[in-house]
Amino acid sequence: MATILVTGAAGYIGTHTCIELFAAGHQVVALDNFSNSKPEAMRRVARIAGREPLFHRGDIRDRVALDTLFATHAIDAVIHFAGLKSVGESLSEPLRYYDNNISGSLTLLECMGRAGVRRLVFSSSANVYGDPHTVPVTESFPLGPTNPYGRSKYMMELMLRDLAAAEPAWRIGLLRYFNPVGAHESGLIGEDPHGTPNNLLPYISKVAIGKLEQLNIFGGDYPTADGTGVRDYIHVVDLAAAHVKTLQALEREAGVQTLNVGTGTGYSVLEMVAAFSRISGCAIPFRIVGRRAGDIACSYADPSLAHAVLGWRAQHDLDAMCRDSWRWQQGNPDGYPDD
Ligand code: NAD
Ligand code: UFG
Repeated sequence: MATILVTGAAGYIGTHTCIELFAAGHQVVALDNFSNSKPEAMRRVARIAGREPLFHRGDIRDRVALDTLFATHAIDAVIHFAGLKSVGESLSEPLRYYDNNISGSLTLLECMGRAGVRRLVFSSSANVYGDPHTVPVTESFPLGPTNPYGRSKYMMELMLRDLAAAEPAWRIGLLRYFNPVGAHESGLIGEDPHGTPNNLLPYISKVAIGKLEQLNIFGGDYPTADGTGVRDYIHVVDLAAAHVKTLQALEREAGVQTLNVGTGTGYSVLEMVAAFSRISGCAIPFRIVGRRAGDIACSYADPSLAHAVLGWRAQHDLDAMCRDSWRWQQGNPDGYPDD
């Protein structure tokens, strides 16, 4: 058993990872400033796990708060989710993104170093590949993010590699997530975007439940089988499990492990619409509109390195992703309640 600090614990991936950490027997110290989440999410985590995370409301940019946190708890490793994640927002507010994602991460790293905690799992993104041109995407593909959000992940990857090279005591997992979807099977926690969702599955589920009229499909003329964009959707519970496996791998492996976390299968937008409609029993009206700026045609992972290093593979199929997203949507049509 280890004590793990989870930053951004109240968020979509953080909540699901807290559950998996508890299930693996770890203690969880949770940190979040609720800039993109609500306190109710942490209460739901406690309800599912039957255990209370040691929760601290705070900001990763707050050096004093972090030093106090490391002095209060005997933390063995950090899983660092806290950050801003909207590509569109990052284009209009780049400095807010760099401040949160870069300055915040640097402050966290300094405080970790001071406290002698040198194990870290960092949330990177398939966004660092930019347009991969060919698929499946392996970790050795060239990197070239095309927006401030992706660049913030890319810069953090570079800094973390420099850090591990300078101080070999650091053990770091850089997980490049593909497209997380789905929710915990309890239906108690899930993705809770503010306002109109940007991402496909949250948008589809709001159309299915009748809160949005129809889906706009961004582009029907991509060089894919049906002309719509193809992505590697991965169930958030599988993604959460990969973090627990990464902590185990860092016990064995020194240095930096850079791993794609995806299923290895790509689905088109039209395939996602059909699957969600079949699982929910609801019509999903859609129309095909112009391409969204910055989108790529096709991206899916080669996840074989994660399998080799972690002994991890995604377990949930597309039906489970849709079923669990739909259960969460039906049970929480307005997301988490405010306090
Ligand atoms: P999320 O927004 O649901 O969770 C992030 C959490 O961090 C939120 O609860 C937010 O309140 C908190 N937070 C933000 N800034 C903070 C700060 N300065 N101090 C303390 N807390 C702060 O996002 P998520 O989907 O759970 O993503 C988690 C991580 O994974 C992010 O770093 C994101 O960039 C990365 N990622 C997400 C996706 C995705 O599609 N969801 C894909 C690739 C990578
Ligand atoms: N799409 C639509 N209509 C919508 C929303 C999305 O047609 O209303 C399409 C997109 O054009 C794309 C696919 O559905 O073809 C998936 O789009 P998402 O916005 O769900 O996901 P992206 O792959 O564009 O981006 C996501 C995250 C990024 C992250 C990236 C890789 O939003 O932050 O996955 O991990 F970097």
